[in-house]
Amino acid sequence: MTTSASPAPFAGESAAKVFEERIAPIFQSPAPSSCTRCHLATVDIKQYILPSANDTFLALREQGLIDLDKPENSKILALINRGADDPKAAGLISAKRQRAEYEAFAVWIKACAADPALRGAPKPEKAPALATKPVEVVRHARKDRMLESFETNIWSLRFRCMNCHTEGTPQNDKLVKEHGARVAWFRKAGPEATMDYLLASKLIDLDKPEKSLLLTKPLNEVKHGGGVKVVVGDQGYKAIRAWAEDVASIKKGRYTKAADLPPKDQAPKQFGTEAWFRLNNTPAAWNGKLLQVDVYAWDAKSGAWEKDPIATSDRVCGDNGWQHTVTLLAAPGSDRAKLWAKGKPSLPAGKYLVKAFVDSANKAQKDWTARIGAGEFVGEAEFQGRWAEGYGSMTTVDAGGIKK
Ligand code: HEC
Ligand code: HEC
Repeated sequence: MTTSASPAPFAGESAAKVFEERIAPIFQSPAPSSCTRCHLATVDIKQYILPSANDTFLALREQGLIDLDKPENSKILALINRGADDPKAAGLISAKRQRAEYEAFAVWIKACAADPALRGAPKPEKAPALATKPVEVVRHARKDRMLESFETNIWSLRFRCMNCHTEGTPQNDKLVKEHGARVAWFRKAGPEATMDYLLASKLIDLDKPEKSLLLTKPLNEVKHGGGVKVVVGDQGYKAIRAWAEDVASIKKGRYTKAADLPPKDQAPKQFGTEAWFRLNNTPAAWNGKLLQVDVYAWDAKSGAWEKDPIATSDRVCGDNGWQHTVTLLAAPGSDRAKLWAKGKPSLPAGKYLVKAFVDSANKAQKDWTARIGAGEFVGEAEFQGRWAEGYGSMTTVDAGGIKK
């Protein structure tokens, strides 16, 4: 561009022309913008564009997103360009789109800055409103944040799904031969690849999250090759339902203000394991009821049981016993959480306490958000845990010893 040779009126025209040729097509494009690589659908470059060039200019200027003295320092350009040099993104369609969005805005802002009429446009009484979301909502829907909640809610379930859906396990290899690649949705590449797959799949129903196949299959509400693997209100159901609801709200743009977001999760991080736990000789009164066990570790230093459970599990109790894999729990940011995130999560052999809870009133079934707690407590027992992995090496406790 030869700004020095352009008399003022033409410079104005040129900003309008750049807008029409390069910015408007981005606004009209049905394709998701490059922002969705890291932000899911809550953030889109289209939210920073209005149908009119003038309105777009005024809105961005009033929000401090463009710098007319140093156009290349404009904040909107920094937002667009984040992660542009990430080698992982090279070659992605979103990287090409990002480049195109960046160049379009860079050229347009430069043209605006060279236009005295735009530069001098008086502050409007009411700046044209952009469709952007509050920062809290933007932050919540960042993919890195979503991944954290995915790891604790869904990724930790794969042993609960008995590896039937874990790519690369013998169980899954067999099922893939019978049912095709769709059963291998817990990806070998890890939680991020799995989340990306599920987000792009038809397994989440954005209009009715509670009808997502991710839930209705393991409930066997829709005929499931694996049979009943969760019941309404159990830990698996709660985790999948909460995640599906959150994804639907994000993707459908239902969060418009900070107060709409789910309560900030103070809950412990969860880690799935293949360590099985069994209660033998359970009383007849427990049959068919949801039974939750919380396991506490012994703290030799303070000579007491730890305050928070180190493992948990739940499942409907059988005729004369209950058994399931345990999920390990650790406070977010704790040494334990860091250790388990790095390596293979496991419990050391030693002295433990089990607390048992029986949902006799079917409270969880009536309200999936209900918490099983003191009201359902049926007793506790001390035991030695070996916590070896595998169905054949369960840690077993006689339910007769569980006392209040
Ligand atoms: C490579 C990943 C990536 C891409 C692509 C990306 N962002 Fe971001 N964005 C982030 C991260 C990470 C943060 C948080 C930065 C921080 O806290 O310092 C963020 C923060 C933001 C914020 C500020 C919210 C806050 O936390 O204060 C806005 C607004 C935003 N991005 C908009 C966009 C827009 C618009 C696009 C597309 C044009 C985009 N982003 C593309 C990763 C990305
Ligand atoms: C014993 C093996 C087994 C277990 C355990 C199992 N499943 Fe399945 N699942 C299957 C088989 C086989 C299919 C394919 C047939 C079908 O669609 O029902 C399937 C299909 C699915 C599908 C549909 C996939 C698609 O893209 O069509 C979903 C979703 C699903 N299961 C979720 C789960 C969840 C969640 C769990 C654990 C809480 C689980 N399953 C536990 C065997 C199992």
